[in-house]
Amino acid sequence: STGGLVDQHGRVATDLRVSLTDRCNLRCSYCMPPEGLDWLPTDDVLTDDEVVRLVGIGIEHLGVREVRFTGGEPLVRRGLVDIVGRVRSLDPDVELSITTNALGLARTAPALAAAGLDRVNVSLDSVRPEVYAAVTRRDRLHDAIAGIEAADAAGLSPVKVNAVLLRGLNDGEAPELVRWALAAGYELRFIEQMPLDAQHGWSREKMVTADEILASLEAAFVVTPADEQRGSAPAERFDVDAGAGLRGRVGVIASVTRPFCGDCDRVRLTADGQVRNCLFARHESDLRAALRGGADDDEIARRWRAAMWTKAPGHGIDDPSFLQPTRPMSAIGG
Ligand code: GTP
Ligand code: 5AD
Ligand code: SF4
Repeated sequence: STGGLVDQHGRVATDLRVSLTDRCNLRCSYCMPPEGLDWLPTDDVLTDDEVVRLVGIGIEHLGVREVRFTGGEPLVRRGLVDIVGRVRSLDPDVELSITTNALGLARTAPALAAAGLDRVNVSLDSVRPEVYAAVTRRDRLHDAIAGIEAADAAGLSPVKVNAVLLRGLNDGEAPELVRWALAAGYELRFIEQMPLDAQHGWSREKMVTADEILASLEAAFVVTPADEQRGSAPAERFDVDAGAGLRGRVGVIASVTRPFCGDCDRVRLTADGQVRNCLFARHESDLRAALRGGADDDEIARRWRAAMWTKAPGHGIDDPSFLQPTRPMSAIGG
């Protein structure tokens, strides 16, 4: 069989997001409870060889052109540098990135760059130590910032920084985050919170909306929509002028109030080898079983294509019948 990862609505997935572990060394309040979660059993998690084999099938048989490793926290996966290097050697041109909280990145950034990683996106919700600790339940702001700086210095750039604003915690900090990012040359993106937390505590009223975020930026800066084609990118981008020569790009990822599902080009692979055709999919396809059952590349590619065909047209968060997926964000991959 041949062909790419096409769905019945005409979208083609070329961006593969691979969760390498469901574990994390932070406990962000919008993601998981303080005690953590029941992690996947070790035997269920794909081995490094299995990850590389599936990513290779994606690239060689299914038209995948971008691979992003996520988690949980991908840096807590021991084999990360090795996996990056092996995927890079499969294809010199595929775009390779990670989405990380940057803890420990100061140490591994040079090795990741040498292995062939192109760039990193970092989750950082505050630049105030007490607020960072309140959001993440860990006092690690300085480690995170050291990680971001090391990634930038290693050429893993442009570094993008993702911030989720939470009412009453860091929602007043948008201008401060922007000034910090502009001064350092990072692209900051504000993300609307989605109903993907393990505690099922999300509510539309608590979510800080794109309109609110933009209003707080417009109160502090001159904000102009960027002159560019957005394509399948989730972020709407804006040129921000903060005065005194401080200017640059800021993004808003408005998954909830301004969904971009019609242009989605993503497909996800969980750490335990399940294909998810959408963050909010209610069904997964078990590639690990196929792999461990001895299926050849063609058979796995065929199952993977079949898994994509039924991708829903949108996330349906606004539907009265919406049900949050059983897996939380930390087990799906950001
Ligand atoms: P770039 O190519 O670097 O722009 O990557 P990205 O923005 O796709 O990746 P990243 O992992 O940094 O994701 C940023 C945020 O966008 C995530 O935390 C999610 O909140 C959101 N996001 C990513 N992918 C999807 C998606 O497929 N659907 C929706 N609704 N939101 C997504
Ligand atoms: N809604 C939106 N973004 C989320 N993230 C984690 N949980 C959620 C959620 N419920 C973000 C993290 C990180 C990325 C992987 O996903 O902040 O930037
Ligand atoms: Fe794609 Fe699903 Fe995200 Fe929409 S919610 S952009 S369809 S992954």
